[in-house]
Formats: sequence, C-alpha cells, structure tokens
Amino acid sequence: MDEAVIRQRVEAAGQAHVFERWDDLDAAQREALLGQLAALDFDALARRIELIQAKSEPPPPPEPLDPSEPDPAQRAEWAKLGEEALAAGRVAVIVVAGGQGTRLGWSGPKGTYPVGPVSDKSLFQLFAEQLRALGQRAGREIPLYVMTSRLNRDQTADFFAEHGDFGLAAGQVRYLVQGDLPNVDLAGKLVFSAPGELATSPNGHGGTVLALHEGGALAAMREAGQDLLFYWQVDNPLCQIADPVFIGGHLALGAQASTKVVEKTDPGEKVGLLGVRDGKVTVLEYSEITPEQAAERNDAGQLRFRAGNIAVHLFDREFLASLVEGDFALPYHLARKKVAILGADGQPTQPEAPNVIKFETFIFDLLPLAATHLTLQVAREEEFEPLKNAEGPYSPATVKGALDARARRWLEQAGHAPPGGVTCEVSPLVALGPADLSELSSLPEPGDRGLHVELP
Ligand code: UTP
Repeated sequence: MDEAVIRQRVEAAGQAHVFERWDDLDAAQREALLGQLAALDFDALARRIELIQAKSEPPPPPEPLDPSEPDPAQRAEWAKLGEEALAAGRVAVIVVAGGQGTRLGWSGPKGTYPVGPVSDKSLFQLFAEQLRALGQRAGREIPLYVMTSRLNRDQTADFFAEHGDFGLAAGQVRYLVQGDLPNVDLAGKLVFSAPGELATSPNGHGGTVLALHEGGALAAMREAGQDLLFYWQVDNPLCQIADPVFIGGHLALGAQASTKVVEKTDPGEKVGLLGVRDGKVTVLEYSEITPEQAAERNDAGQLRFRAGNIAVHLFDREFLASLVEGDFALPYHLARKKVAILGADGQPTQPEAPNVIKFETFIFDLLPLAATHLTLQVAREEEFEPLKNAEGPYSPATVKGALDARARRWLEQAGHAPPGGVTCEVSPLVALGPADLSELSSLPEPGDRGLHVELP
C-alpha cells in the first residue's frame, strides 16, 4: 500500500495527527510507522472507539448456576473416560502467557518466575514436569501450545530452549503469538510509545482463538486427531493440567466448552462468577451483581452466586474451528491505564492519572457461544492460587505458601507426615496427587530450604 493511500485512510479515520511529527522521523521510523498503519483495520478501530462513549443497555438480570460436584463413583467414571481420551491422543493443551504482568512487576515473562517453595522451579518448569508425568501415564506425548504476545515471544522461547524444554520431547512445545491492538487516548486518538511507533498492547486472552487459527494449531490438531484442547493461564501453578476427571465430565456431557470453578464463600470476594443469562452460561464480573445478590444464600447455607471462575477450560476443537470459520467476534473490554506515551511535543509523559485506553477480549466470552457447557467445582486449595501481585493476596508469598500447604497435605494423606514447620514441595515428576505418594518408602531429609520430594 503506498503512502498516499495510507494517508488518505488515516485522514478519513480522523487520525491525521499521527503524521504531525513526520518530519522528525528518519527513514526507518517512517517505514515502520507506515507498516503499522497499513496493517491497521480502521473500521474495527472506529467500532472500538465508539465504545468509549457508548452507554450500554443494562443486560438482562443474571441467574446463579449450581456447579457439578460429582460423587466418588461418578468421579471414577469420568476419570476413566478422561484417561482413555489422553491415551488415545485426543488432547492438546494450551497455556496462555501473553499478559504484561504489570502488577507483579517481574522483568521477564511471568512463566519464568521462580515459584517452587523449596526448589525455585519456575512456573514453566512446573507445568512442563506435569506434562511429562501425564505423558508417561498416557503412554504418549501431550502437545503443549504456549501463547505469548509479540513482545514476550522470543524471551519465552529462549527460556524453554536454555533449559532444554525442561525435558519435554523435541517438537512437543509450540509457540503461538497473539495479536496486538493499538491503544488510544481518552479522546480516541492513536498514541505513540516511541518516535514513529504507535502504542499497542496484546489483545487479551480472548485472542487465543484467533492465535490458534492463524498459528495453524487448529489445523495441526485436526491432522493429529486431537479433538480436545485444555486451556489454562500461566499464573496458576496449582492448575491440574488435563485433569482426567474434567476431560471425562466434558465428554460424558457432550460439552463444547467446560470450566472449572471454586466455591466463593465470602460475599465480598472480587472474583468473576459463572452464572446464567438468557439461558446461556456466562461469566459475571463481580461488579455485575448487586451486594444483595452477592450475599444471597441457598437452603444449604451456600452463596447462591458461588461459582468462582478460575480460568481453566476445556474446548472442543470443532467448536473453536466453527467460530473462526463463521462470523465470530468477541466483545471488547476497555481498560483505562496510566501509560508513559509521547506527548504532543514528542517527549515522554509521566501520567498521574489513566491516560490511555487498552482494548482486550476475554476467553470467557466464548462460554455463552457453546451449545453445552460443564461447570465443574474443584477445591480451591488444591487447584487455584494465581500469581498476580508483588505483595499481599495472590503474590509470590501466597503462591509458594499454597504449593507448600498442598505438598504437605498430599504427604500426610499418603501417610508420610512431614516434620512441623518445614517447607514442603513435591515434584510433579513424582506425584500429581496424594495417591501417587503412597508407594514412597520414606521422606527425604529436609535441606536448608525445606523438604523436596523429587526423583532420585
Ligand atoms: P491477567 O489479566 O491477570 O493479566 O492475565 P497479566 O498480564 O497476567 O497481569 P497484569 O494485569 O498486567 O498485572 C491472566 C492470564 O491471561 C494471560 C496472562 O498471561 C495470564 O496468564 N493473558 C492476558 C494473555 O495471554 N494475553 C493477554 O493479552 C492478556
């Protein structure tokens, strides 16, 4: 596309200010800017900008949803179905790791953060070891897709490569890069992060669907006979990847999409909730239910709105493929952020209040599109403690604490109570649950950091 056409489109979109500092740019910066503008879908940008002022109609009132809590017999049945699906090679997994991790403030991709309470293993290492253990049980490798953003793709792939992919087989890990969307200021104008460089940010975890399609993963899965995709987010080291019970429940129900939830017990907890709207399963952000609704209880004394979303899903490949082949668009969510963009004088600004709007799509907006959906309730202390903040709740301290407490609980359940006050960790290569520890002959001696049950 030549420069004149690009300038015309930019002007028609009311964004002519992007050329104001053109004379200050060198040839490479000009070329890069024209490239960014040529790739921009101005119609879609206009639709997003309209949302800044739009007053949305209040949605229909939500209804609570009672999650499935299978009894032991049903769990056993589902586990068998799930194990069969894994052994038949029907399952691929994806971890989404394209976020910017601003709250944590870690220098590298979040998956490189050391969370092992004794070992300092990174999130990525713990996940890779879980997959190796699952693969051994299934008798085959389970393919891992890692979704990154454009910004952290290379750092992520380099980290895996530097560690020999943590023992995963050659070709078992594949990377997908999610799309970016340009940021705008509060008046809807494009902004610059550097001379000639429009500020952009990753398009949210909802970008997973297009990344799977455009990165060839859906086609590769079809080719390999994988019809199920397990999804989780990189910040939750307690996630039980490709849990057979979850897979089996999804298959038994004939679901197109499934979600794990934990029970919300504190009415004030700020967690997204699964509910029902217009007969469809949907995620309600905590601001979407009133404090009165949040406090309502059923006859058993549980909160009526209690299905806390932990962003662990299972999707049918064909469901995802039908979305991208059809006329599919996820709604945009707007986030107002403080970002150090360039001011009108071309100099970096230090904003004291939110000055930029980022647009994102969310994975959970897929749920109402599924014809059938399983909501499975799991124990929070066994499966959910995400790393979000540098301090306080959901921080390195709470995440390590949750891994330590879970390891201790598993050891105790297996009849190997560790000495009090000692930090514990169990390698996923040794155990994915307490049952795997029953054959342990004795506990290792604790080291300086604590007790680490690992392979000899
Ligand atoms: P969060 O919304 O918690 O964002 O992402 P974050 O990037 O980790 O942290 P903050 O908000 O900047 O502090 C939840 C999960 O979704 C992934 C993240 O990597 C994380 O696993 N994610 C988020 C993406 O893969 N892409 C995105 O564009 C956004």
